[in-house]
Amino acid sequence: MFIEVLLGLVIAGLIFILVQRSKTQVLKTEDGWWGVGAPPDDGEDLTIRPYRVSTSDKELEDLYMRIDQTRPIPSLEDSQFNYGFNSQYLQKVVSYWRNDFDWRRQVDKLNQYPHFKTNIEGIDVHYVHVKPKNLPEGTSTIPLIMVHGWPGSFYEFYGMIPLLTEPSDADDLVFEVVCPSIPGYGFSEAPQKKGFDSVCAARIFHKLMKRLGFQQFYAHGGDWGWLVTTNMAQMEPKIVKGLHLNFAPPSKPGLPMVLSIMLGRRFPKLFGFTDIDVKRLYPCMEKLVVETMKESGYMHIQATKPDTVGRGLNDSPVGLAAYIMEKFSTWTNHDFRNLEDGGLTRNFSLDDLLTNVMIYWTSGCIISSMRFYKENFGFDQPHAKMPVHVPTGYACFPNELMHTPKLWVEQKYRKLKTFTLMARGGHFAAMEEPQLMAQDLQNFTKAVERKK
Ligand SMILES: *[C@@H]1O[C@H](CO)[C@@H](O)[C@H](O)[C@H]1NC(C)=O
Ligand SMILES: *[C@@H]1O[C@H](CO)[C@@H](O)[C@H](O)[C@H]1NC(C)=O
Repeated sequence: MFIEVLLGLVIAGLIFILVQRSKTQVLKTEDGWWGVGAPPDDGEDLTIRPYRVSTSDKELEDLYMRIDQTRPIPSLEDSQFNYGFNSQYLQKVVSYWRNDFDWRRQVDKLNQYPHFKTNIEGIDVHYVHVKPKNLPEGTSTIPLIMVHGWPGSFYEFYGMIPLLTEPSDADDLVFEVVCPSIPGYGFSEAPQKKGFDSVCAARIFHKLMKRLGFQQFYAHGGDWGWLVTTNMAQMEPKIVKGLHLNFAPPSKPGLPMVLSIMLGRRFPKLFGFTDIDVKRLYPCMEKLVVETMKESGYMHIQATKPDTVGRGLNDSPVGLAAYIMEKFSTWTNHDFRNLEDGGLTRNFSLDDLLTNVMIYWTSGCIISSMRFYKENFGFDQPHAKMPVHVPTGYACFPNELMHTPKLWVEQKYRKLKTFTLMARGGHFAAMEEPQLMAQDLQNFTKAVERKK
């Protein structure tokens, strides 16, 4: 009899442990206050105010004066983009910026969609909110938040927005899109206090979506947007219906990953590596390590002393443009470092690139945008170890900074629904290949919705 009771207890205990383990872990977070000083006693201001992008004549005169005072320095012979932004080509960009670029026209383009600001945790949060214009009776829209990264902005999504809100294919889903600026980026106010990381941004965007009345929604992100939307899914797995990403570097390299790197080349099948995985991860890890060293200096600076370099960039529009646009060259295609013009206009227009730079310049946000690296480089972040239990779609672009095999994505995102090897595109895929990205987002969302 005693044995049977004991056995019963053991089995009950095991079941309890199993149930506990299979329960979704949720990322915990506490409200913050990022405005100047202490939070006011009379509660939060919940109002939503329309916002329009605008620049005064005085600001533009100041910009042109600074551009005119730039001090060009010749690049080394035959250096192309290997020493950073090529100085000769920079002069051409600057001349275009000064003489041909029409910021007023670009401002109209930015204002073609409705912008808003609302105060959350002491910060004015800026966002674009686009609803479909002609929604057929009885059709409901699918709410979607899209989060940008560095050195990008909400503008990265301008090519995708019409494809999602006014799709031409009758079979396509109709989305209602919210593109916020991460606090400290673009027209969102910068935190005044230390410690504003991806988890804080995720919490603030949940509050934003709640304030807009969405009970459930989808989320899309690349670069920092990947981490912010991943944290959103970890925080509220029932509210985020689906997560669509085009960037997902492994946040916590575990033993399986280390083994797969070491042995995957010899035994690809053992680790579920496809031919493409092997081709993109190897031929040589040494090359990957050297490349990473060569390309990550900016990260080290921003994660340690952002305010020092940032001050120079905040004073010099030409320096700022070089710093930001260099990334749009190399992160779109590493081979573009060997071109005199960094291949910049092969995949982007100077108008679009300079519009993104102008968002940084007119808002004066470069230092606060760089600080986000410092705040996110902790070593013991709870979310790094935590799996994600929200249906996930991964768009794997061939020129992404680092190839992430399906196996690695699945280790983190336990409900990986779609994994698409995309035909073309690099790190700024939303801006470079809006059609492909919107299509993959459509395909993923349809797969999730069908399941319901
Ligand atoms: C980007 O540039 C490369 C190289 O010129 C080209 O093969 C590719 O098709 C371009 N992509 C787009 C979207 O233009
Ligand atoms: C989306 O699905 C359609 C239909 O199955 C397919 O033709 C298309 O290639 C897919 N697009 C992407 C980007 O995955």
